Amino acid sequence: MRKQFLQYLSLAVVVSTIVLFTSCEKPASDTAPAAPVVKPKSRQYVIGMSQCNLGEPWRVQMNADVKAAADKHSELKVIFKDAQNDTLKQRSHVEEFVSAKVDLLIISPKEAQPLTEPVAQAMEAGIPVIVLDRALLGDKFTCFIGADNKKIGKAAGEWIVKTLGGKGNIVELMGLQTSVPGQDRHDGFMAGIAGSDVKIIFSADMKWLEPDSRKEMESALSRFDKIDLVYGHNDPGAHGAYLAAKAAGREKDIKFVGIDALPQEGVAYVSQGILDATFQYPTGGAEAIETGLKILHGEKVPTKIVLGTRLFDKSNVAKGGEEVK
Ligand code: FRU
Repeated sequence: MRKQFLQYLSLAVVVSTIVLFTSCEKPASDTAPAAPVVKPKSRQYVIGMSQCNLGEPWRVQMNADVKAAADKHSELKVIFKDAQNDTLKQRSHVEEFVSAKVDLLIISPKEAQPLTEPVAQAMEAGIPVIVLDRALLGDKFTCFIGADNKKIGKAAGEWIVKTLGGKGNIVELMGLQTSVPGQDRHDGFMAGIAGSDVKIIFSADMKWLEPDSRKEMESALSRFDKIDLVYGHNDPGAHGAYLAAKAAGREKDIKFVGIDALPQEGVAYVSQGILDATFQYPTGGAEAIETGLKILHGEKVPTKIVLGTRLFDKSNVAKGGEEVK
């Protein structure tokens, strides 16, 4: 009985060994030298960047931010076009990018209305579009990225009411009124000074440009003896007004507030005592590239990305300003 059991056992061992070896054996073809693995070449993407103007340091910074972010991704190539503050030129640039079939368009438009249609056409041609800083009309774009200009204008208004003790004469030098930030920085400001005795005694559209602002401020100075503060919709505007006041020997009687807060521009002006305050307006360049990559990789992105802002004034400039909540 025991002998028979041992015979069965050894038979079972032999059978299972054969099964084991045959199942582990590789098919003949696999033993041939492996074919080299051909990795798919990683896809290259071309991004068209339509910049409305490179006249202000802020826009030079925006392009530099876009480039620095894109340089970190070898699959991205960005082609920059500068419309030199000419809306028709910027329209043609968008059309050129569409004919060239770029993979993605980033646009920082000069004006809302005239650039809405060309961007809609890019979308119809299947090109995703990121709108940076200045908004367009309607919703025919993939994603808008920018800070909240109404909030910045309101914060500026509130800061001014507080600093002037609730009353004073203001000169408002506005950004281009056919661009959304110019409209929103005004509307927000009106909300910020509402209910106070802060009055706008002179206002003009300086189109975001320092020389225009300087000229408008010369008119304001010639008309009004008592100006307490200038609210410029950007730092070049506030600085242009300061230069006009300085030329008239009145810069010490007037406070100057701007927006943008580039370290080398507005923040430096505050440190030097030229401006009394500036509010940061981030360029969004890095966020545009991050969001663009997601779009190119087929990921979903929000239709609006709102960037934050910081206040820089005498009290906080040395410690890097403070966040506006
Ligand atoms: C530059 C600029 C900035 C301003 C922004 C508004 O052209 O005027 O100074 O914050 O555009 O779009």
